[in-house]
Amino acid sequence: MEKDSKIPAHVSIIMDGNGRWARERGQERVSGHKKGVESVRTCLEAAVEAGVKYLSLYAFSEENWDRPKTEVDFLMKLMFDSISAEMESLMKNGVRFRVLGNKARLNPVLQDAVAGMENMSRNNDRIELIVFLSYSGRWDIFQAAKKFAYQYLSQPDGMERLEKENDFAAFSQFLVTDGVPDPDLIIRTSGEKRLSNYLLWQGAYSELVFVDKNWPDFGKEDFFNALSEYSSRDRRYGKVK
Ligand code: FPP
Repeated sequence: MEKDSKIPAHVSIIMDGNGRWARERGQERVSGHKKGVESVRTCLEAAVEAGVKYLSLYAFSEENWDRPKTEVDFLMKLMFDSISAEMESLMKNGVRFRVLGNKARLNPVLQDAVAGMENMSRNNDRIELIVFLSYSGRWDIFQAAKKFAYQYLSQPDGMERLEKENDFAAFSQFLVTDGVPDPDLIIRTSGEKRLSNYLLWQGAYSELVFVDKNWPDFGKEDFFNALSEYSSRDRRYGKVK
């Protein structure tokens, strides 16, 4: 990295191309997911090295539940096994671990493992690793909108106060990302150029970097290249500089 480069506080990754990586090698799709866990570890190390404070990963979308049951079961077991296997190393390295999304849909054993790891790591502050599981941007905005509206409508003058509300921050505290800064940089692997229902609200001003490699082939150098690309961007947030 260049000495005076801008380091994003929050880097988020849409990990894509595991299935294609496996197919290109004549293997089952799930072997791509297994290999993808190595890229997760590599990127976490690179993020710590660079001084990134939040690394978030789109690991399983609400739409992914519609994949074949064998693949869904494999992915859920992979999450559980990875959390169990990495727990010690995450603690040793000061990583705060969190899962965000529609957690009620996860099986109770995975929910317990996640809650245990979140609780144990809650005071770690070197970096926060956020795994989005059973997440979609529209789901997040929708569940937040319901809670937001309920807060007003349960009061006698609620409709009137809701009409006058124009503070985005008052709304965004109901998103599952409350307290997490919006992603400065979103990286998507595999050459696809879309957001696929990810962080639709939070990504309003994120810089996007698309990388042609499939996720299992994405390494440290690719991560640093994406940071360099970010550093060269001119962020104006719709204003004139
Ligand atoms: C997208 O590739 C990848 C996924 C849906 C799963 C990613 C999950 C992991 C790598 C495991 C992460 C584990 C932890 C602990 C965070 P795809 O299946 O959509 O690939 P394709 O587009 O080539 O079919």
